[in-house]
Amino acid sequence: MLDKLGWKKSEKAIQSIDERVASLSQQDVPNHIAIIMDGNGRWANKRALPRFLGHREGMQNIRRITRAANRMGVGAITLYAFSTENWKRPSKEVEFLMRLPEEFLNSFIPELMDLNIRVEMIGEMDGVPEYTSRAIQHAMKETKNNTGMILNFAFNYGSRREIVLAMQRLAQLVKQGDLQPEEITEEVISDYLMTSKLPEPDLLIRTSGEIRLSNFLLWQLAYTEFWFTDVHWPEFTDEKLLDAIEDFQKRNRRYGGLKGE
Ligand code: FPP
Repeated sequence: MLDKLGWKKSEKAIQSIDERVASLSQQDVPNHIAIIMDGNGRWANKRALPRFLGHREGMQNIRRITRAANRMGVGAITLYAFSTENWKRPSKEVEFLMRLPEEFLNSFIPELMDLNIRVEMIGEMDGVPEYTSRAIQHAMKETKNNTGMILNFAFNYGSRREIVLAMQRLAQLVKQGDLQPEEITEEVISDYLMTSKLPEPDLLIRTSGEIRLSNFLLWQLAYTEFWFTDVHWPEFTDEKLLDAIEDFQKRNRRYGGLKGE
């Protein structure tokens, strides 16, 4: 049978997930989860399917994970959907990835409205096709008054590029005499990043077995807990998300201080 989030599962498995969600310590559910959705291509290769079908399945999984995170009480998820380095891929694959926001968001907006979820985006719209930016901007506009979970897409995003842009803006302010160099603090830098309106991620998840950050949220992840799994993104389920959150709840975050401080 299909559970209410859209996964095929036995009745027993559904019950056990419900129980696990109910027993999460709500105050320790990560407020912001950042996810590197890796492994769409390998998921497809394993099934002798073309890579683009892996991306399409990965896109469908965003729906399921959005519903699951929302149900678990997560405040925001940031999904690494297209990096500044992904332009190096074959043009056919890039073209396919650029079409996904349109296909995904237009059909998902009614449910996002029901779930009170707001779409946000980090990255640069310059350089992406018009139909891609239009779809993202439309979803942001439609959902802008929603007050529940934030579904934040990192699209045409690279962390070094984000930091360069922030530094250029700060340097400009200094040059104009509107900011003193000693006024540049960690808070000021955070305010000039694309994530300025979001809390820093509590948990980073990367699927598909790679243990690296790939130019994702380098500044923002300074004190984030990391969680890696070998599972490819299209197969990353609500059970896996729960595994990550349960594991997160056992961590002792010290921020450089001592236990219990
Ligand atoms: C990494 O897998 C995945 C990507 C580069 C793209 C991720 C995109 C989606 C999940 C869909 C995006 C949808 C929307 C709505 C924006 P990979 O291709 O690098 O996999 P591989 O390492 O196994 O080849």
